[in-house]
Amino acid sequence: MKAVVWTKYGAPDGLELREVATPEPKDNEVLIKVHAATASTPDTELRRLKLPFLFSVSLRLYIGLRKPTRITILGTEFAGEIVATGQDVTRFRQGDPVLGYTALKMGTYAEYICLPENPAGLAGPIGLKPANLSYAEAAAVPFGGLEALHTLKKANIRPGQKVLIVGAGGSIGTVAVQLAKHWGAEVTGVDHTVKLDMLRSIGADHVIDYTRQDFTKSGQKYDVILDTIDKSPFTASLRALSESGTYLNANPGLLGKLQWRLMVQKSRKKVIRWSGDYTASNLLALKELVEAGTIKPVIDRQYPLEEIAAAHRYVETGQKKGNVVVVVGGE
Ligand SMILES: NC(=O)c1ccc[n+]([C@@H]2O[C@H](COP(=O)([O-])OP(=O)(O)OC[C@H]3O[C@@H](n4cnc5c(N)ncnc54)[C@H](OP(=O)(O)O)[C@@H]3O)[C@@H](O)[C@H]2O)c1
Repeated sequence: MKAVVWTKYGAPDGLELREVATPEPKDNEVLIKVHAATASTPDTELRRLKLPFLFSVSLRLYIGLRKPTRITILGTEFAGEIVATGQDVTRFRQGDPVLGYTALKMGTYAEYICLPENPAGLAGPIGLKPANLSYAEAAAVPFGGLEALHTLKKANIRPGQKVLIVGAGGSIGTVAVQLAKHWGAEVTGVDHTVKLDMLRSIGADHVIDYTRQDFTKSGQKYDVILDTIDKSPFTASLRALSESGTYLNANPGLLGKLQWRLMVQKSRKKVIRWSGDYTASNLLALKELVEAGTIKPVIDRQYPLEEIAAAHRYVETGQKKGNVVVVVGGE
């Protein structure tokens, strides 16, 4: 099968298209023909091991000290078709259109991938593809969708509340804006100048250009603040929260956790840190929200698998609006 092999930690030119063996499904696994994947910000961070220190060291120890050896195919999101199932598989049948998030198992930059039918080990969930999306559109749903859904659900958003999303124009942010709107909130999206019109088009009531304005200095109070990229100044963000407001961070460094614990002890404000619980039930909830038209994946552009290095370079410019899709088997 055709696959992009991750030959080194570092620049995108280490991603090489090669012919490799097609995997065979174990008893609890399915074999999926990948029609589309994505090039996400986490994919580019994984490629370079540009991650929080402890996480980066443990990944290097697991994947390979000098270069990737245990995992050699990147890519964490996919949409495709079940072409074979192991004898113990019950959730899926041959021909089922599916989507999923492979998390640290990676491997979606290939024509085929084998995954456990239920999340196990490093692998994330698989679910049936929303009927109203193409494979290319569906591939852009899992990562941002799962992150936004399981993080925002913890804030228990109520109609009329003021919700602010930092990094609203990215994979996680674009779903978070639509979810908060769906739950009746008044939504403010914070991102780069070039993404503000897109944010209005997906329902943001207010937009803030972080290159021109610091939302913590506007005097406006918010009931919920979601920081998708750990870029908002913590103490100032807490000050921008209403008395019983909730602060959510989808990407905290070590220092943040210690500071938070000290800070929130004195107030009714809640601080909730990231937890990666990627579940099949949340993926099913996303499918239903997409089929109901509540969530639409925001896709900036598409690249063929052969141009994966160019896709990663574009993602690293930070200019992408929403998601970048990688067409593998097509349709
Ligand atoms: N499982 C995982 O790997 C995992 C899980 C959770 C979270 N994460 C982390 O989540 C982050 C990715 O989230 P994502 O995929 O949604 O990222 P993304 O698609 O790159 O979106 C991030 C957005 O934030 C914007 N931005 C940058 N600086 C900003 C600032 N100071 N204020 C407001 N907006 C700003 C970016 O715009 P510009 O770049 O144009 O400025 C971009 O639109 C990554 O850093 C990743 O490590 C990863």
